[in-house]
Amino acid sequence: MIACRELKVRGIPFDCFEKGSQAGGNWIFKNDNGVSAAYRSLHINTSRKQMEFVCYPMPDHYPTFPHHSLIAEYFENFMNHFRLKEDITFNTEVKKAEPLPDGKWQLTLSNGSNPIYDAVIVANGHHWDPRWPDPAFPGEFKGIVMHAHAYMDPTDPYDLIDKNVLVVGMGNSAMDIACELGNRGVARNVYLSVRSGQHIMPKLFGSKPADGLLRHPGQTPSWWEHIIPYRLFEKMAFPFLSWRIKKAVGSPEEYGLPKPKYPFGMQHPTISSEIHIRLGSGDVKPKPNIKELQGDSVQFIDGSVEKIDAIIYATGYKISFPFFEKSVLPFENNDLPLFKRMISPRYENLMFLGLVQPLCSIMPIAELQSSFMGDYLLGKYRLPDRATMEKVMVQEHEMMKARYTKSERHTIQINCQEYTYDLRKEIKAGQKRARRLADKPQALPSTFPTTVRV
Ligand SMILES: Cc1cc2nc3c(=O)[nH]c(=O)nc-3n(C[C@H](O)[C@H](O)[C@H](O)COP(=O)(O)OP(=O)(O)OC[C@H]3O[C@@H](n4cnc5c(N)ncnc54)[C@H](O)[C@@H]3O)c2cc1C
Ligand SMILES: NC(=O)c1ccc[n+]([C@@H]2O[C@H](COP(=O)([O-])OP(=O)(O)OC[C@H]3O[C@@H](n4cnc5c(N)ncnc54)[C@H](OP(=O)(O)O)[C@@H]3O)[C@@H](O)[C@H]2O)c1
Repeated sequence: MIACRELKVRGIPFDCFEKGSQAGGNWIFKNDNGVSAAYRSLHINTSRKQMEFVCYPMPDHYPTFPHHSLIAEYFENFMNHFRLKEDITFNTEVKKAEPLPDGKWQLTLSNGSNPIYDAVIVANGHHWDPRWPDPAFPGEFKGIVMHAHAYMDPTDPYDLIDKNVLVVGMGNSAMDIACELGNRGVARNVYLSVRSGQHIMPKLFGSKPADGLLRHPGQTPSWWEHIIPYRLFEKMAFPFLSWRIKKAVGSPEEYGLPKPKYPFGMQHPTISSEIHIRLGSGDVKPKPNIKELQGDSVQFIDGSVEKIDAIIYATGYKISFPFFEKSVLPFENNDLPLFKRMISPRYENLMFLGLVQPLCSIMPIAELQSSFMGDYLLGKYRLPDRATMEKVMVQEHEMMKARYTKSERHTIQINCQEYTYDLRKEIKAGQKRARRLADKPQALPSTFPTTVRV
């Protein structure tokens, strides 16, 4: 929806196809698109001030970490405010997107039509295709097996009340689900199986959101950001934050969880204020990785065995584009390098929106990306030549990989303030290129960017 808004204000003609009957994607509980990961109790874990769009702040009466229903309401109001519903074709899935010899893109839609576009923006989300343990744990399990994606509440889709439940993982899904099932004896026993330790950041320091210390990525960088490289800033800020977290809630190992192998800041943040009280109260029992599934029990690598009725794999998500043939965009294990995390040098008229795993919220990042895309499509921004794009893309991708722990979770990780600072710089550089090359047509396709569709 933010892309629609940025295209609309620039007067760029577009179509937008949405699989479900409403906008809001992941934030629509039980969305009829069939792919929302929201559960009934879900609240955001990035504070609302960090999540809101600059062009449309969240209302002041919202709490710091609103429930998903308020986030859905915010998006609904956003759509109405900018009159975007008329621009979106709902209940229409993009089944296929293929490049044509002249560089344009042909779509196949669920209604059977095959429209052709000069450019395509892909914004299909990356938290909807469940990643299961691969390889699967040895042995066989006879009880309930589900992924966190399917979890709605303690009785939906399975009745977990008074059951022995094992939650696998230590990301935010695992935290929320284990806490909900452990709280006030909903499940009989809740075990949390963790293979690699993670720092856990509380949602609040005192009454203030922990992420409130950060600049909203959509706002103009502070003066010092022009002087101090982020690498250096992080070297000072992360140990301080780590100390602050320890002071507030202690270390994971004090709660029986594995000690994180890496310093704070090298993993996607696990944020929970509740897990400490649940672990501290014995409502959630820590366990190491699974060794073997044994029918109605599970053995862990420390040799302990527990009777288990249900396993919930909160093991993350795969980046998936079911509408591309594998040859269009070959990549594996979530590892898809892109120029500025948006454009493959191979297709300059194919853009990816929100395909980042930020240390903050995706929304303001997507807002700046959409503005970049709008300017690019108008010809106000010009990409560098392909060789430069490739070089920059590979360099940045390798740097990112070196910075975060090697995992399928961290292939598209970004530091929000650094990313948006850098993107702003790139926008300025591209605007200069556009002015310099105003009389030379863009490379691909020949008509680009006269008609643009999403
Ligand atoms: C449980 C959970 C909690 C989260 N909490 C937070 C949080 O607190 N803060 C935060 O910033 N982020 C959070 N996230 C990250 C979340 O991904 C983003 O908040 C946000 O939903 C990303 O928006 P999106 O538009 O990129 O993707 P989505 O919200 O997934 O939307 C994608 C849209 O594309 C549509 N679509 C997909 N494929 C097609 C197709 N082929 N044709 C037509 N339409 C299609 C879908 O129907 C959907 O409406 C959370 C993620 C999960 C799983
Ligand atoms: N309240 C909220 O706002 C909220 C709630 C839920 C999710 N989210 C967001 O949604 C996104 C997805 O979060 P997520 O928690 O679902 O996934 P995630 O962040 O990818 O975490 C997956 C967890 O599963 C573990 N894991 C993966 N494969 C495993 C295996 N084979 N065996 C054992 N453990 C395995 C990972 O450990 P390794 O580190 O070892 O790989 C990690 O701890 C994130 O952006 C998150 O912030 C937000």
